Amino acid sequence: MISRRSSLHLTARAVTALLAFGRLLSGRAVAAQAALVGPASLPRSSSGLHWDTILHELQALTRTQYAPDWNEAAHVEAVASLLGAVDVTDPALQRLLDRYQSTRRDFPAIRTVHDGGDFSVTVLQFQAGESIELHNHPRMTGVILCITGSVTIEAFTLLDGTTPEGHLRIQHEGDVVLGPGDHATLVSGRGNIHALQATEWCELIDVFTPPYTPDRADAYRRYARSATPVEGTDIYAAWELGED
Ligand SMILES: [Fe+2]
Repeated sequence: MISRRSSLHLTARAVTALLAFGRLLSGRAVAAQAALVGPASLPRSSSGLHWDTILHELQALTRTQYAPDWNEAAHVEAVASLLGAVDVTDPALQRLLDRYQSTRRDFPAIRTVHDGGDFSVTVLQFQAGESIELHNHPRMTGVILCITGSVTIEAFTLLDGTTPEGHLRIQHEGDVVLGPGDHATLVSGRGNIHALQATEWCELIDVFTPPYTPDRADAYRRYARSATPVEGTDIYAAWELGED
């Protein structure tokens, strides 16, 4: 259980991704595959799975994270396939989306709608022009499914070492534009730092495995990066931003 002190600390750690992908899409390494996957329209059954069935299946899937041979890349693909089968017309899901309430100007609404211990599910809703700056999802995997609208995600991998100026080194994994039914994934070691930008009304569902805990919240960071690469064509300098 998270104490009140811990909860306050989470909030101070910047509203951000914590809950969404943050407590939210991102990462997408440990992967033999690119951390940033997508856009790729997921297969949908004719009827789709109800939201409670999705949660039930996610619980079974995420229990495997404790196995010594757990494979993050395979896990996020399994989660993505499951999410892609959701019936977006299911009233239970629609009720979650209908609870939209903007609390911060120029920042998306982020609500954790499930936090069952082994995984968390976050709903993110962006007005046109809203964004989330670069941030990480420490020691976590994430799957972001776009339900409505469109969002652009840029993903980076944190590299070893520093620049001559002492800055962090991050490698650009790519940019992706998600539309309805598209997903993106991240894993702990690749594509784990990302930023999101919506140019239109957009609704996303993020599944994080494992969920945020106080220790992972402590490792949560926001970043700024150099405007241009400092090595080759895809390695940028980055530095942590202070708490709000
Ligand atoms: Fe995120």
